[in-house]
Amino acid sequence: MGTFSKFLGVSAAVLMLSASVAGAEEKDPLKPRVPADQIAEAKAMKNPVASSPESIAKGKALFEGKGTCFNCHGKEGKGDGPAGAILNPSPRNFTNCKFHKKRKDGELFWVIKNGSPGTGMVSLIPAAITEEEAWTIINYERSFCKGDE
Ligand code: HEC
Repeated sequence: MGTFSKFLGVSAAVLMLSASVAGAEEKDPLKPRVPADQIAEAKAMKNPVASSPESIAKGKALFEGKGTCFNCHGKEGKGDGPAGAILNPSPRNFTNCKFHKKRKDGELFWVIKNGSPGTGMVSLIPAAITEEEAWTIINYERSFCKGDE
């Protein structure tokens, strides 16, 4: 019995290790991250930066530079950046159109401002970027969804 439970403990440790080496998965990206008591307000927020080729280009520069977003989310937005590989849950894959359909800009903004508790996504306003820069980056993040599924 003692040996058996020790064996179970070791196997669990090995399993956890292999999971982190293989790369973790996203926590269900379709479930909201904003707490229930704040979600109506978050959804009602309007992005003050109009989406245009110019704001998307600005957002890309911020995503890949000052904002440091690419470190975790990856330059292609797939959630596979160099620092993202060790995170569990893994960073959001912005190429997932279903995710974008589920979220209003204000919900994305809320997470950039407050972080997603219990994950590697920490508050980045004002630590890395301003509110206006966050709205600009949101326009760029939306552009990772290429299809319309
Ligand atoms: C240290 C790693 C890291 C960095 C840097 C980072 N993120 Fe994240 N991000 C994450 C992780 C991990 C998640 C997934 C959190 C979850 O599943 O709740 C995430 C999720 C998100 C989400 C999804 C929120 C939602 O509603 O599900 C948005 C939007 C986001 N990040 C934007 C950004 C922006 C913009 C930047 C740069 C200014 C950035 N992130 C930088 C790790 C990071």
